[in-house]
Amino acid sequence: PGVRPLVAGNWKMNGLKASASEFRSMLDGYGEDLADLTGLMVCPPATLVLAFAQMSQDSRLSVGAQDCHAEPSGAHTGDLSAEMLADSGAVAVIVGHSERRQNHNEGDEEVHAKASAAWRAGLTAIVCVGETEYERQEGETLDRVGNQLAGSIPDGATADNLVVAYEPVWAIGTGNTPTATDVAEVHRFIRTRLRERFGAEEGGRIRILYGGSVKPSNAEELLGVDNVDGALVGGASLKAEDLLGIAM
Ligand code: G3H
Repeated sequence: PGVRPLVAGNWKMNGLKASASEFRSMLDGYGEDLADLTGLMVCPPATLVLAFAQMSQDSRLSVGAQDCHAEPSGAHTGDLSAEMLADSGAVAVIVGHSERRQNHNEGDEEVHAKASAAWRAGLTAIVCVGETEYERQEGETLDRVGNQLAGSIPDGATADNLVVAYEPVWAIGTGNTPTATDVAEVHRFIRTRLRERFGAEEGGRIRILYGGSVKPSNAEELLGVDNVDGALVGGASLKAEDLLGIAM
């Protein structure tokens, strides 16, 4: 079997109850046009995971979360465990997004622990990696991504429990994207590392998403690059028609 593509929308800190039902009605409006669609996911804020899961029971839309705590339970005010997210209907959780790495000081070790927590709860871990603008200018992109892969992904990754998202930090929310050649270089590098570590077959099937200013107008080019198995979409995922414009 080949690699199953995935287009996941990361809503970040956006969306109220009404946004979830609007999104769902919009999706339903496409009816049979969505018959061939596979691998569509929305990662809403945690407050909407349950609502999305309840709306999506019979559909091709799966639900993910944006972060989790490494522990299953305990005195961690304001945090959510992977088990809680799974209990609410999430099938995946993003860990190590650059906004968490930057704004919450999360390092590879913490991301690694969160990915393990995701697996413990039966969730797919969507592990994000990517270089800053400075690192790219300094020619450190592959070093940075290689270190993040090694440090953030626990042993035992499979095509079912891991998705890697390559998100150059400078491309997130900026409208700037790397060239197809640059995307191809990093994705090829990630593929090689996954194969070396998890075996040629399994490493070949783990999905590697591109993220950073993906929109309907550039999706075809970016998703057509070798070893790009889908996209992690921020801003453009808030509207169902834009997310579908990328996925279809
Ligand atoms: O997780 C999604 C990314 O951070 C990309 O965000 O599509 O708004 O650039 P963006």
